Amino acid sequence: RSIKSLATSPSSHILRRGYASEAVPDRKVAVLGAAGGIGQPLALLMKLNPLVSSLALYDIANTPGVAADVSHINTRSEVSGYSGEAELGKALEGADVVIIPAGVPRKPGMTRDDLFNINAGIVKGLCQAIAKYCPHALVNMISNPVNSTVPIAAEVFKKAGTYDPKRLFGVTTLDVVRAKTFYAGKAKVPVAEVNVPVVGGHAGITILPLFSQATPKANLSDAEITALTKRTQDGGTEVVEAKAGKGSATLSMAYAGAIFADACLKGLNGAPDVVECSYVQSTITELPFFASKISLMKKGSLLCEGSLMLCTFIRCSTLVRLGKNGVEEVLGLGPLSDYEKEGLEKLKPELQSSIEKGIKFANQ
Ligand code: NAD
Ligand code: LMR
Repeated sequence: RSIKSLATSPSSHILRRGYASEAVPDRKVAVLGAAGGIGQPLALLMKLNPLVSSLALYDIANTPGVAADVSHINTRSEVSGYSGEAELGKALEGADVVIIPAGVPRKPGMTRDDLFNINAGIVKGLCQAIAKYCPHALVNMISNPVNSTVPIAAEVFKKAGTYDPKRLFGVTTLDVVRAKTFYAGKAKVPVAEVNVPVVGGHAGITILPLFSQATPKANLSDAEITALTKRTQDGGTEVVEAKAGKGSATLSMAYAGAIFADACLKGLNGAPDVVECSYVQSTITELPFFASKISLMKKGSLLCEGSLMLCTFIRCSTLVRLGKNGVEEVLGLGPLSDYEKEGLEKLKPELQSSIEKGIKFANQ
């Protein structure tokens, strides 16, 4: 069909409603590190999200250009750029969701933990400002090492008296995105139909994809499952090596970050059945933080028709239930294969030590 007939057909009403500001509540999203490799495409994707009414782009430098550029796109949100610490408060005031991709990325040969010395301080400072200017915002932590930066954020918020475990998320969506892509390729099933929970943390062996629960079901051999698991765990390194010193995943991360932020917005708006994997405060294992399915749903409330563009992908994901207050429910791990049980036990010491490192740093 031509663009014109699409625009005047009955279905175009639904499409246009997706961009009609009166259909959905006002929501402010702030991106901290918005001029970076992830920040820029993420700013673009959030500008395309009709659930966003105000988009605040903050970085220590170069934000005016990014903000001016993105602001010309004819979608719902008003865009503003903020540069330097003096403007951080204004960027954060009134934010419903704060996304943090601020900090340095890996180079070949580095682990995510090698970023700790620089990124821990950056995240600590940003979280102190969040506690001051938007203590009720949902915080989406992308900066690495996520296994430690989330515990740092929790400690900063505790000190400020603003900590709400329902509102703090480590973004592990890229692990899910990769697991789905790699599984679809191996199982020869349509990628858009694939669901794979990924639990644990976000570094090496702490990333535990549960291919035994993957759907559609496929008859993969043990060797194939082992190879898929390893590729998912090493997905970040695969990109770091391919970029050969020019950083880590940015485009796929922006996509994953946009999906997770969209889920948070849907949860805030009361959309039903919003379930994602995320690294959150948890009691499903003995570890204080753990990535698993969470639910962000609020039953019986307004269904948001806004984000048609992203909802296809969101509905393919499953594991924290999200609602008006952030996490509604941390879902259990479900039945694990022997291989996954072994992987779970192996990851615990590393994840525990990354958590402790973050807590210790924040309390120094
Ligand atoms: P980048 O260097 O391209 O961009 C980082 C941006 O952060 C820069 O624009 C920089 O100016 C900004 N910044 C630095 N200090 C800041 C501060 N105090 N306040 C605000 N902004 C600040 O890096 P990138 O490729 O965008 O990666 C950013 C982070 O995301 C890295 O730590 C990386 O490891 C991580 N990452 C996480 C995932 C994940 O799955 N969670 C995936 C990819 C990358
Ligand atoms: C990723 O998984 O791509 C990110 O954590 C970046 C990295 O350093 O691998």
